[in-house]
Amino acid sequence: MILSGKARLAGVLGWPVGHSRSPRLHGYWLDRLGIDGAYVPLPVRPEDFASVFRALPKMGFAGANVTVPHKEQALILADEVEPLAKRIGAVNTLVVREDGSILGLNTDAFGFMQNLLETHPASLGTLNRPAVVLGAGGAARAVIAALVDAGVPEIRLVNRSLERAEKLAADIGGPIRVQQWDRLDLAGAGLLVNTTSLGMSGQPPLDIDLSALPQDAVVNDIVYVPLLTDLLLRAQARGNPVVDGLGMLLWQAVRGFSLWFGQQPEVTADLRDFVLKS
Ligand code: ATR
Repeated sequence: MILSGKARLAGVLGWPVGHSRSPRLHGYWLDRLGIDGAYVPLPVRPEDFASVFRALPKMGFAGANVTVPHKEQALILADEVEPLAKRIGAVNTLVVREDGSILGLNTDAFGFMQNLLETHPASLGTLNRPAVVLGAGGAARAVIAALVDAGVPEIRLVNRSLERAEKLAADIGGPIRVQQWDRLDLAGAGLLVNTTSLGMSGQPPLDIDLSALPQDAVVNDIVYVPLLTDLLLRAQARGNPVVDGLGMLLWQAVRGFSLWFGQQPEVTADLRDFVLKS
């Protein structure tokens, strides 16, 4: 795509940022939709983040994504932060407004829920039952906020560090019950979500016994390398509906893209293949 002088600009602020799939993902949509715009990687050291952040409106950026390690700093620096991002404690999307001020959003909760419902519309029914969430890191915060807001009656939160899990429960609020790994209770659950890095290639396996999990419970792993983790393969083999993690990445990007470039992009099978090949 050849840009004009009026091209709209966005990008991803991170350090390092070379591994990010976001430029490829947004580039695909820009290309398919024929938009006069660009989305670029913006490698920014932590000590330079504040000055680069403040320069975005001055450089004519429509907004940006924020990734590791800047998500907490972005929450502090934004002129206004949506309530959901405050609860999650991280901003992953910036929108530059007409007056040059910066709005901070977190689109991960939307991405998680949208991925679940688009992959298995029947998941909506299972949200009336307890959900089990493994992990209490940044991704878990977004997943749990989405589940609380969807009205899930009970969230069993399992994490190696209980202190971190208790802090998450206090920050997000809602019907969250913190449990230890050795007390993992899958009985009656409608949804099981892995948000830990266990099972990711190069990491230790996620070794849990699924025998108590109801067969109609949806199993979602937010790890997407490999796309079908050992957890998803084992869940699939016993008949559970499964949801891989790639869709969450794609769906969380939809909200930012439409705000910056003014068009609603689509999440398609072709896009999934394209992003996976990077
Ligand atoms: P993200 O932002 O992707 O959620 P993170 O904040 O680093 O990443 O969180 C990683 C999650 O994986 C945490 O829940 C972490 O557990 P702790 O909070 O106890 O550290 C979990 N995790 C990572 N490695 C683990 C391991 N070997 N055993 C158990 N849990 C692990």
